[in-house]
Amino acid sequence: MIIREAKFVMSNSRVEQCPPPTLPEYAFIGRSNVGKSSLINMLTGQNGLAKTSSLPGKTQLINHFLINDQWFLVDLPGYGYAKVSKESRAQWGKMINYYLRKRENLACVFVLIDSRHAPLAPDLEFIEMLGTEGIPFVLVFTKADKMSGSRAHQNVTSYLAKLQETWDELPRHFVTSAAEKTGRDEILNFIEDVNR
Ligand code: GTP
Ligand code: MG
Repeated sequence: MIIREAKFVMSNSRVEQCPPPTLPEYAFIGRSNVGKSSLINMLTGQNGLAKTSSLPGKTQLINHFLINDQWFLVDLPGYGYAKVSKESRAQWGKMINYYLRKRENLACVFVLIDSRHAPLAPDLEFIEMLGTEGIPFVLVFTKADKMSGSRAHQNVTSYLAKLQETWDELPRHFVTSAAEKTGRDEILNFIEDVNR
């Protein structure tokens, strides 16, 4: 798919204030600092479209981007170790959960996982919740440039093996690097297929 146009629409904290749910929507979620905003910039080819930072906790609201006037990309706050107060973290958690359950045009959630890390409890719990709630999702292993290709492959394989302990069917997965722009075509082709 070719991205002709990507534009910021709005930020807000409430599903009720999101743009009308008339177009398919793809939301990016994962621990703070995993690379959600960077991946959105890489996919759209617009550095600076989504705000990024080396400090966890940069994205704090539900951010809608309209792509080709046909579908939405959504950047969400991270869960996990953001350097923000316990209250803010709890509030983000509620906001994200409510968004995931109520947003009726949600076509697929992209769950981002840092490909350097072994499976972490908050990610596994989050994936479990999506499964039991029947929310469609795929996995994205990020920052693959931070290690050798074989190491990345090894980590992904063992992560999937861990999931297989509880899941009969593994979710679809992608391996990406925002720095080296890898995984871009695979994700955009996937979105194109779902949009059809
Ligand atoms: P929050 O909004 O705080 O939840 O973080 P986020 O998940 O949106 O992460 P963000 O995109 O802001 O990136 C966090 C840091 O990781 C930044 O310093 C990015 O430059 C870096 N980063 C993101 N993706 C990659 C990648 O693929 N490779 C490398 N080397 N660095 C990356
Ligand atoms: Mg962000």
